[in-house]
Amino acid sequence: MEFFIDSADTKAIRELCSYLPIDGVTTNPSIITKSGKEPAQVFDELCELLSEDQKIFAQVIAGDYEGILSEAEQIARIRAGKNVIVKIPVTHEGLRAIPAVKEKGIAVLATGIYSPDQAFWAAKAGADYLAPYVNRMCSYGDGVAQVVELVQTLAQYGLEAKICAASFKNVDQVHRLLAAGVPAITAPPEVIRGMVDHPGTAFAVDEFTNNWRTAYGRDVL
Ligand code: G3P
Repeated sequence: MEFFIDSADTKAIRELCSYLPIDGVTTNPSIITKSGKEPAQVFDELCELLSEDQKIFAQVIAGDYEGILSEAEQIARIRAGKNVIVKIPVTHEGLRAIPAVKEKGIAVLATGIYSPDQAFWAAKAGADYLAPYVNRMCSYGDGVAQVVELVQTLAQYGLEAKICAASFKNVDQVHRLLAAGVPAITAPPEVIRGMVDHPGTAFAVDEFTNNWRTAYGRDVL
């Protein structure tokens, strides 16, 4: 199971990677622009921050087939292509480009997925990862249930694409997909923190420490 951070906030990425076994970072054009930095700087910083075993996902901007191919090659030069995955939206041109990009030996994540049917076609086109936008899908129906169903559909046809569920607004959405066995998830830092931090844990730890201090007059074993 892979768990990625959906962000280009280097401070948040450094903090989460310091205590969680994070598998990499996913970005998209909006995430990059939100950083207030030039894209090249963002990727330089990510390469410095992450180990080569941690994946970096970067999205093409061009919408036409030739442009997608050329930008995919450009992205694949980041970190000499080591664990770099090119994100391609599931437009007509994107779906057409996916097999061609794969042909060049470049790993692909099909993105901007709003329905299991789009995901099915991207999987059939040979994408390595599929990114259904769970929370956005919830505007049209039960996004979580549709992704659970997608797990089934892919298995049924032996399609090898890996779902990398994206676009999360709360912990419960992630929780339900983890319970359903989704193979990869990318979530923003605040949702990941919400999965880990619980006021009850802080309360319990304080209680242990206070009782220990009262009994033995120290905070260590
Ligand atoms: O990775 C895709 C994701 O960033 C979209 O998320 O929060 O813009 O719906 P959001």
